[in-house]
Amino acid sequence: MSDQNPIDPRQEQAGASDESLLAAHEKLLGKKPEDGAHYKLLPLALLFVFSGLIFYAGTYLNHYSGHYDASIFNENAHPSNAAAETVKIDPMVLGKKNFELVCATCHQVTGLGVPGVYPPLAGSEWVNGSEERVIRIVIYGLKGDVKVEGTNYNAAAMPVIGKVTGSGYNWSDEKIAAVLTYVRASFGNKAPAITAEKVAEIHAKEGDRKEWSQEELLKIH
Ligand code: HEC
Repeated sequence: MSDQNPIDPRQEQAGASDESLLAAHEKLLGKKPEDGAHYKLLPLALLFVFSGLIFYAGTYLNHYSGHYDASIFNENAHPSNAAAETVKIDPMVLGKKNFELVCATCHQVTGLGVPGVYPPLAGSEWVNGSEERVIRIVIYGLKGDVKVEGTNYNAAAMPVIGKVTGSGYNWSDEKIAAVLTYVRASFGNKAPAITAEKVAEIHAKEGDRKEWSQEELLKIH
């Protein structure tokens, strides 16, 4: 009998399993053996982070995208042109707004006043007459008797509206001009507009003073 190796190397090779061969190869190639299908769950915290970012981005676009409207965002607009485009406010619009905010409380939205208490502005000779008088009434107020359209009023006082010490309103000359322009062109009145320059001129001339009386006003023409 030859000294035959009882274990035939070919048999040994054949007996090696596929797995053991693969493992051997991987070892030779310096690879780490695979430890099976290793899916890892995304950390839950990241899910919240991304959800948060998407929510933020959505809200941001909703607020600032202008709905991608070309009329809202104009990349060709130049900031230095903005001043030139400033719209001049229509005195009738400004006047109506402020009339309804303040004057209408007493003189009513209709300008008809309240019988026996607040005299009418509709058809009033003070409103439609000399601008010298009506401007003075609104800047500084009016106290005591006042005859309007044949009826005497004395129950209450007309408050100080202009920038005068003790004024509760401190309206600018421009605002007063606008409200008078509105009053003189509404409720059937048809008197000319009053400019801010005219109000400023009278304001500067009279300075800081108390309410007018009818007698004082009648001396001014
Ligand atoms: C708190 C109530 C009140 C408010 C607000 C008020 N007025 Fe008067 N107004 C009066 C009273 C009262 C008189 C009469 C005063 C008197 O009897 O001496 C008067 C008189 C006048 C007169 C002269 C009389 C006439 O009827 O033409 C004018 C003009 C006038 N107000 C305009 C205005 C304007 C414009 C505003 C708003 C900026 C205004 N008033 C806000 C109470 C008010």
